Amino acid sequence: MKTIGVLTGGGDCPGLNPAIKAVTRKGLAVGLKVMGIREGWKGLVSEDPALVYELTDESVRTIDRNGGTILGTSRTNPFKSDEGGEKVLNKTRLLGIDALVAIGGEDTLGVAAKLHRKFDFPVVGIPKTIDRDLSGTEYSLGFESSVQIICEAIDNLRTTAGSHSRIFVVETMGRHTGHLALKGGLAGGANAILIPEYSFDVNEVCVILLARKLAGQRYSIVVVSEGAKERNGGEILKDQALDEFGHVKLGGIGHYLADKIEKITKLETRYVILSHLQRGGSPAAYDRRMGYYFGTAAVEAVLAQKFGTLTALVSGRVNLIPLEDAISKLRYVDVERDYDTEKYNYKQQILY
Ligand code: F6P
Repeated sequence: MKTIGVLTGGGDCPGLNPAIKAVTRKGLAVGLKVMGIREGWKGLVSEDPALVYELTDESVRTIDRNGGTILGTSRTNPFKSDEGGEKVLNKTRLLGIDALVAIGGEDTLGVAAKLHRKFDFPVVGIPKTIDRDLSGTEYSLGFESSVQIICEAIDNLRTTAGSHSRIFVVETMGRHTGHLALKGGLAGGANAILIPEYSFDVNEVCVILLARKLAGQRYSIVVVSEGAKERNGGEILKDQALDEFGHVKLGGIGHYLADKIEKITKLETRYVILSHLQRGGSPAAYDRRMGYYFGTAAVEAVLAQKFGTLTALVSGRVNLIPLEDAISKLRYVDVERDYDTEKYNYKQQILY
């Protein structure tokens, strides 16, 4: 083992740079050469040599304070073409990369798992996604930074909502799972939280909002996850185009819901789509620490030749799990345990 590569794929988020720094520092500390691969899997499918460069102690020294990824990212799926997998193998061999650390979510790690399954490719994954929808790990990089942004956005909306006596609908990301909306809404004290795992009845939501008004509350905040569905309705799409992994682009439920709430309650209602603001800014302290733990553990896994694995948080400790376990199914909000379907909010029960 002489040289390792590291790449980041899929949507960016705060926490990637701390993980890149940890992989580099640990790699250098044990005498490895560390190559940064730009633009996710694209960097290994493309023949462009400029997409791979050597990382040094100096080049990663200050990056952990910044969001995004110094390596760049893309939603490239090598298996979109028949020869994509072989291209990755060939380029890796050509570059003399003995093992790869892939930092990503369902799609990036899905490619890593397939490469390992088909070609015994020496890869270790690090979980990253603000959606926190990977199975088998209690944490994915980016989540806490995004929750913080949602919480602050709600705090900021309170004064204007209160001044004008308005209802505000805040649309979050999260794709098909509601972790981000539920935890962001909990932290920010939202009055209703709508998640994909439980289809909502807009009339029931309006009853909650009108009851608050009758009780003398000047304003209400509703958090809605981009993948939330009205009962008997479907997800609202930004457009029909699919990405290379076959995903739709979600978005628009905030606007749709605000219109409906205003019509039904006759209360002035505005909406805010947090969109990519949720993936910006510098990493929360927790994402810096988790980036350090996952990045360091990934290099330890490489040294132990434990390939086809993912660094995961299991019962509060960083451990390795099979990559396949993380991607075989999405991790949804446990509605029974964590969601109050009458209040459309988190469940006020912790001890079971
Ligand atoms: O998976 C992360 C995520 O931010 C989702 O919550 C969101 O639906 C999607 O990525 C947005 O993707 P893009 O950055 O390609 O618009």
